[in-house]
Amino acid sequence: MATDYSQRYLARLNRSPRLLLLKLLNQSFPVVETIRRIERKLAKPPNYRDIPACAITSSLEAGANHFHTHRWAFLENVFESSFHQFLVSNWPRRRYFTAPFDMCKAYDKGFRWVERNPAPDHWGAVMARDAFAEDYPAYIDHHPHLRVLFDYLRSPAFIERVIAFSGRPARLRFNRFQLTMSYPGSSVAPHRDSQQDASSWVSFIFYISGTGGESSGGTAILGDNEFEDVIFEPANLCNTCLAFDPAAPFYHGVRPMAFGKHRWMMSAEYVSDK
Ligand SMILES: [Fe+2]
Repeated sequence: MATDYSQRYLARLNRSPRLLLLKLLNQSFPVVETIRRIERKLAKPPNYRDIPACAITSSLEAGANHFHTHRWAFLENVFESSFHQFLVSNWPRRRYFTAPFDMCKAYDKGFRWVERNPAPDHWGAVMARDAFAEDYPAYIDHHPHLRVLFDYLRSPAFIERVIAFSGRPARLRFNRFQLTMSYPGSSVAPHRDSQQDASSWVSFIFYISGTGGESSGGTAILGDNEFEDVIFEPANLCNTCLAFDPAAPFYHGVRPMAFGKHRWMMSAEYVSDK
């Protein structure tokens, strides 16, 4: 759950004409969700063949020093290109995502899997029953390439790399996974994440496909919760990644996306037991 929003920023955001369509979509949530649930019920698992091996490149190790110093890092060319290309070409259909329901985090969210949630969250409360995860995110059988990706992210070998990247000795566990789809008007009001009782914590936001440029959906690292003090804001959203420590004192958020832009993102979180 997000905390430390600025009420002044939220009031200003709420008046923005960019959000008109999203407000309409938000209000139609029960109808959109019913349609998507029926579409999911009728959908047949696609027949994917020749899924390339998933691998994250040495861009992770290349960003480690920056992460140790600043508690965030931006990585480029993150996935091996054949797997990245496969992900882009076979991105899940919108019916597998929960429709927008929260103007503070206005986008489609899907494939939720979480082990340890520090606070009750709005998404979990409104999500359709058939979208709940077990060992894997729901509907993984319809998306075997996401199974390959999920297994890679929670593999002991990759977790060892994340521990080295964190620069801290604590053992990390794979704790959270989700995919999102964003479009004009999508935004995330600047906030901090509900704190985990953990000495080490790394959150990865993988940009799979995005228009890029200004106001294109990049998660900014911020010195304040009103977007006045921007420390870093990504503009290249194609096979890149923002890694950050949610326990660090900065905020993060996404400006309302401009017309004509899209962003497909995947996030993964690692946290220590204590
Ligand atoms: Fe957050």
